[in-house]
Amino acid sequence: MRVLVTGGAGYIGSHTVLALLETGHDVLVVDDLSNSSEESLRRVAELAGREARFVQANVRDAAALDAAFAGFSPDAVIHFAGWKAVGESTQIPLTYYRENLGSTFTLLEAMAAHDCHQIVFSSSATVYGELSEPPFTEDSPTGATNPYGRTKHMIEQILADAAAADAELRVAVLRYFNPIGAHASGRIGEDPKGIPNNLLPFVAQVATGRRDKLMVFGDDYPTPDGTGLRDYIHVVDLAAGHLAALDYLGGHGGFHVWNLGTGDPKSVLDIVHAYEGASGVAIPYEIVARRPGDVAASYADVTRAHKELGWQARKSVEQACEDTFRWQSENPDGFADS
Ligand code: UD1
Repeated sequence: MRVLVTGGAGYIGSHTVLALLETGHDVLVVDDLSNSSEESLRRVAELAGREARFVQANVRDAAALDAAFAGFSPDAVIHFAGWKAVGESTQIPLTYYRENLGSTFTLLEAMAAHDCHQIVFSSSATVYGELSEPPFTEDSPTGATNPYGRTKHMIEQILADAAAADAELRVAVLRYFNPIGAHASGRIGEDPKGIPNNLLPFVAQVATGRRDKLMVFGDDYPTPDGTGLRDYIHVVDLAAGHLAALDYLGGHGGFHVWNLGTGDPKSVLDIVHAYEGASGVAIPYEIVARRPGDVAASYADVTRAHKELGWQARKSVEQACEDTFRWQSENPDGFADS
């Protein structure tokens, strides 16, 4: 297939582009590099032995997108591009709505204009909020508690409405739990700018001495060790989930939602210990107050993806920590090293 990937230079995008190229698909990446580096795509090409095409543009740029569709004629789109920091989204909500919703509109319009009828969308388990108890199924109630989460929730609804109005349009919404890890080669991985918001990149920087210690946000949750429980999924498994969703869309019309997680929750301290095991380095930490907006536990019921897509996560949290440690040790400054 010919697959247009927005945000393909980013963390999950680059691992998915690699999997697409390895499977024999042709790929065009559209990315404005606002939170990613073209170096990730150079390394993907080196790993795959073939290149993705690349257009540097914001997905909201209708003229650039039109030219990209006209030149590439994609059969399907995977839409990763978007702003994704929860805290920042509460400070500059209009930017989040403009970028995340606007890019989706431009993309759907370009698809319609160029006879492309399949889209896989990067959603998030954040849409489950605290509306019900985990494990979450795809039918659990959804909503959101911050502007970032609301953009994901709104885009899901926009896609459902678009699919209801157009019998040709096929939509896969993938609700990611907590992506971690890196490619086993150590050549591509997560390269957050500034102080990482997410747990594993922060732990990784503590292990290499770039940060003094981890702040553990609360140990008084109703969980086995009191720290938050999450469903950490290896990014290479997550990438494979996108290929499974694309395959499914090839044979089925309509609008579909799948959780991509492991179904096996781990606590913050489990992750600290797994990383210590993988790196051989002690991770100093301090228990501090809960982070506003955090939930006690979030993990997936993964039955539907297994049944319908024949997909399941295969890699352990230990493997993810080993892969992150390799990536971090060999690229202490991320892609800026090259
Ligand atoms: C966060 C976002 C979520 C988003 C996801 C994207 C918040 C509240 N939620 O999920 O909407 O979809 O990232 O990747 O930001 N933790 C620490 N110390 C740290 C960092 C995290 O103790 O320095 C704890 C958290 O309290 C949580 C767990 O580690 O229990 C995972 O945190 P994180 O990696 O930020 O992911 P989420 O909060 O699940």
